[in-house]
Amino acid sequence: MSNFFQMYKEKLTTAEGIADLIKSGYNCASPICMGEPTDILNAIASRVSRGEISGIKTNGTLVFPGKDYLKPEFSGKFDCLSWFFGPGTRKGGQDGRIDYFSVNYSEFPRVYDLRNDLDAVFMVVSPMDEHGYFSTGPYCGESLSMLRNAKHVFLEVNKFLPRTFGENFVHISKVEALCENDEPIIELPVTPPSETDQKIGEFIAEMVPNEATIQIGIGGVSGALGKALSGKKDLGVHTEMFSDAMVELIECGAVTNEKKTIHKRQSVSTFCFGSKKVYDYLNNNPSVLMLPVDYVNDPYIIAKHDKFISVNAGLEVDFFGQVCSESIGYIPFSGPGGQFDYVKGAKMSRGGRSFISMPSTAKGGSISKIKSVLASGASITSHKNEVDCIVTEYGVAELYGKTIRERTKALINIAHPKFREELTFEAKKMNILI
Ligand code: COA
Repeated sequence: MSNFFQMYKEKLTTAEGIADLIKSGYNCASPICMGEPTDILNAIASRVSRGEISGIKTNGTLVFPGKDYLKPEFSGKFDCLSWFFGPGTRKGGQDGRIDYFSVNYSEFPRVYDLRNDLDAVFMVVSPMDEHGYFSTGPYCGESLSMLRNAKHVFLEVNKFLPRTFGENFVHISKVEALCENDEPIIELPVTPPSETDQKIGEFIAEMVPNEATIQIGIGGVSGALGKALSGKKDLGVHTEMFSDAMVELIECGAVTNEKKTIHKRQSVSTFCFGSKKVYDYLNNNPSVLMLPVDYVNDPYIIAKHDKFISVNAGLEVDFFGQVCSESIGYIPFSGPGGQFDYVKGAKMSRGGRSFISMPSTAKGGSISKIKSVLASGASITSHKNEVDCIVTEYGVAELYGKTIRERTKALINIAHPKFREELTFEAKKMNILI
């Protein structure tokens, strides 16, 4: 048995054994959804419930339900600090129980480095190789910054986690203790794109040139684009999130990565979220590089790619071109993620374009997502001077380089027809249209 397997045996304990090493007041962190160890966190929550420890904090992004500490009774004893509200934390954020960081995704590692205040990091990893390395699997993101800033490193080894390649490895020598938990990893259900998403996907696809390098964000349009782009040639992938759409585009031959300006012949990503099909595709696949988010989402790195095309979703946009994608009024909904990183990077890329997509209406068609002014308190995710194209099922409004009047006209043209008269009236009231 190699020395590393001996070390593994010596460090192997249970989730409860790891929880026993956590002290009151610890500031902890975990990667997103499938990287956040359920067993360890629930074992810590049990100790908190028994009154053995308190004042624990854990930093998390896109946290999914299933962890006891998310229950309201843990408030003040075991708290989550959110970096992006996910299904497990959104309600807590809206109720004020869960505080959050407002940071572009590319800068998460920078903030961990600046704060340098982590006591412990907990991570799900794939099984160790013969050299003593664990892969962080579908999540890289800010993992390395957590590891370099944490005093104690604890792992939950899951044989179902795909083994991926890039800058995403933890060595057994850095680990204090580990446990094993082979629970199935979280999957994002694949739902067929709606008719609206299909139309949006087709409008965007018309503007994507062959040989472009693409980033596609989370949401319904992602699936639609997977289909709409299938006729393109020699696309490349450089994306925050690697998803089912990317696998479809690779399998149908539209993505070859051959013409990328950098990282030729490889897809680059910082995390993956999708169905089992995507996790299977990633497993032991050297053609997908998982790199830290401060590299992947760095606008200067994005801009190094010629013809960079970025596609993300928004919640609402106003006549000025200000895009809110993270709150409903002042009520938090998600987070900025990497949206602005890509809007900025695509703008700086030679031949690059960025698209913010949204259905023209929300709440069963009762409200327009194109507004004269954003809802009171809405967070601006993408600044008006950086936003390029807004897309709805009625077309594309090209805003960059346009006056406010031109922007307003272009946006009203892609609003739902039943709101166009009202929007025109508002624009006249504001002296934007005369
Ligand atoms: N006013 C009020 N409510 C609105 C609204 C608006 N303008 N727009 C949407 N909503 C409601 C919807 O009706 C829906 O409510 P419901 O769940 O009760 O039906 C909810 O808000 C979510 O809207 P939806 O359009 O379904 O959101 P989504 O799941 O497609 O996500 C974003 C869209 C913008 C929230 C998401 O893409 C995001 O968080 N983006 C920011 C981060 C980012 O872009 N990262 C980049 C790469 S991954």
